[in-house]
This record gives sequence, C-alpha cells and structure tokens, in this order.
Amino acid sequence: MLGRILKDLFAPNVRLRPGQTAFQAGVEAYKAGELAAAAEHFAATLRAEPEHLEAHSYAGGIDLRTGRFREALGHFERARMLDPRNAECHFGAAVAQRELGANEAARECCETALALDPGMHPAHDFLAGLNFPGPYYLEVISMFHSHLRPRTYLEIGVETGQSIALARPETRAIGIDPEPKIAQRLPPGASIHSTTSDEYFAAHDVQAELGGLPIDLAFIDGMHRFEFALRDFINIEKHCTSRSTILIHDCYPLSRHTAERERRTTFWSGDIWRLVLLLRKYRPDLSVKVIGTAPTGLGVVRRLDPGSGVLREKYDAIVGEFLALDYSVLDADKPGMLALYPNDWEKVKAILQ
Ligand SMILES: C[S@@+](CC[C@H](N)C(=O)[O-])C[C@H]1O[C@@H](n2cnc3c(N)ncnc32)[C@H](O)[C@@H]1O
Repeated sequence: MLGRILKDLFAPNVRLRPGQTAFQAGVEAYKAGELAAAAEHFAATLRAEPEHLEAHSYAGGIDLRTGRFREALGHFERARMLDPRNAECHFGAAVAQRELGANEAARECCETALALDPGMHPAHDFLAGLNFPGPYYLEVISMFHSHLRPRTYLEIGVETGQSIALARPETRAIGIDPEPKIAQRLPPGASIHSTTSDEYFAAHDVQAELGGLPIDLAFIDGMHRFEFALRDFINIEKHCTSRSTILIHDCYPLSRHTAERERRTTFWSGDIWRLVLLLRKYRPDLSVKVIGTAPTGLGVVRRLDPGSGVLREKYDAIVGEFLALDYSVLDADKPGMLALYPNDWEKVKAILQ
C-alpha cells in the first residue's frame, strides 16, 4: 500500500491531495470533464498498478472520446483479459474496433458484451448500426414523405412525436397513442388522439377525419406484439387505395432476446417479425419488403387492397398459427424469410412505382 502511495505521489505531472490516490484523482478529474488531467492520473495509476481494471476502463474511455482508438483498444483488451465477465470492457473494445475499421471484431466483442449483459441498451444500438449501415429509419421515413408527398398520413404509436414530426406541413396527419409524450413541434396538419389504436378505429370515422380522403401513407409503430400490428394493418388497409403505402417498424429483430413478446430490455422490437411472415403467406397479392435500416428494419407494404377480407376472416386461426412459431424458424434464412431489402433510396424508389 505504501509503495503504491509513493508511486502515485512521485509519478510525473500528477498532483494529489494528501491521502488521495491517483486513481481517485483521475475519477474526480474525469467527472469534472478534465479529460487530459484524468488521463494523466490514470496513466500514473497504471504505472504503479498495471493490472488496475478500472483504470484501464477509464483510460480506454478517455482514449475513445479523444479519438485515440488504438490506445483505447489496448486498454479494453487488457481489461477484458483481467475480467472476462465485464460487459462494459467488451463493449469498449467493440467501439474501438469499429473505429479502427474492424467491423467483424467489433461485432464479436459486442455480442460478448450482450451475452454478459442482455439489457445493455447502447450495445444493442451499436449492433443494430453495424448490421444496418446507411440512413436511420427516421431519415428513411422522411424520404418517404418527400417522395410520395402524401395527402394524408396515419401513425400508430407516436411517443415523443419524432416520427410524426416528419410529415409535411400540407399533409393531413393523425397520430394515435394511449400515452403520447409529444416533445416535438408537430406540423400544422397533425392531430394526436390519446387512445389505443383498437379504440380509435372502433370509435372514429377515419375517412371523415381525413377530409374524405383515403390514407396515402401510414406507419405502424404502436404495441410491439404482432397481433396488435396485424389489427392495425387490417384497420388501415380498409382506408387505403392500391397506390397507398403502409410502413411497419421493427420487422427485422436483432436477436431472440429483443424479439420476445414480453418486454425485458429497453431495446425491444417485439415479435412484429411474425407479421411479415404471415402477410407473405396469407397475402401473396401484397408487395412486402423490409428495408435494412437501423435499428430493426422498416417494412414497406404496397399493392394494398381495401376490399380484401382474408386477414379479418382468418384472424383467430392466423394468430394461433404464427404465435406457435419459435424464433428459431428464422435460422433457416432470416434475410430471405423477412424479405430484407437494401437500405438504398434509389432501390427503395423502385418499389414505389
Ligand atoms: C416505439 S414507440 C413509438 C415511437 C415513434 N413512432 C418514433 O418513431 O419515434 C411506441 C409507442 O406505441 C404506443 N402504444 C402502445 N400500445 C399502443 C396501442 N395499443 N395503440 C397505439 N399506440 C400504442 C406507446 O405508448 C409508445 O408511445
């Protein structure tokens, strides 16, 4: 202990208060946002104690924040060896690897982090970004609005309003959510209904609320259990034309864990993937594609038929059939079964003809 204190005290460029260790000074400086000073303190700590796990972790974090990715990786690799069960160190290594252009190594480190801590939200986001590079789903939705210039738009599940805010000022937009938490300026043509989608469709004359127009564009992003999304789809399609478009969020799950019907992680796409499989089986007349956009894919359904009664008539049987599927059915060919489509706007435009 004395040896460590002396080493701390005599380490170059490190000023400590009496009784304070270099590590404590590093944490204090880090919390105060003094990264250069913190880095010096952690370096001093590591000179004295090369196997100090937390000092490696902090030092790696500072290196990441200051663009020293190779040095960051060195710290996180060492930390991973010192404590292989430390999810954060694996995740730190993942971020450094990606910055160094080693995407496969980044994926492996990130998957290890998630195996150790399945609830680690940033690691899910990170993996989603690795899987699906290119524009994020909100940017893709924005491109739909610009390209299709819909007269009307209906969105199920608005939450803070970041997706409905993308509607054009001249679009008549309806948002439905039992617990809206609007934190965005909404376009002038938007109105929000604080209710569930089932209640909304049971009680409202959608077409009348849209000034007698059909739904040109819709986005389903409400309850993430597939039978809710199926009902949303049935209720929306009734008000569409053959030229309308229905977008469905979260069609391409990241992992079994985040695709459960019960929400166990903050990053959650639920079992909407079942809806893709069922639409493809029971509605071969539809065009169904899932754009590979982060975080978990955006379904695009076209060639809608407002007169089709198939899904409504077979609802109970279909729900039972698809509920019985285990996530492992996707092992056979996940991209093929979920109709994965490139996140490339020129190619997306081709399916909007
Ligand atoms: C993932 S958030 C929507 C995010 C939003 N579309 C976006 O992209 O920023 C899901 C929302 O669905 C809402 N929701 C849950 N159950 C619902 C239901 N039965 N009908 C409509 N909305 C529902 C939740 O309150 C939540 O705000």
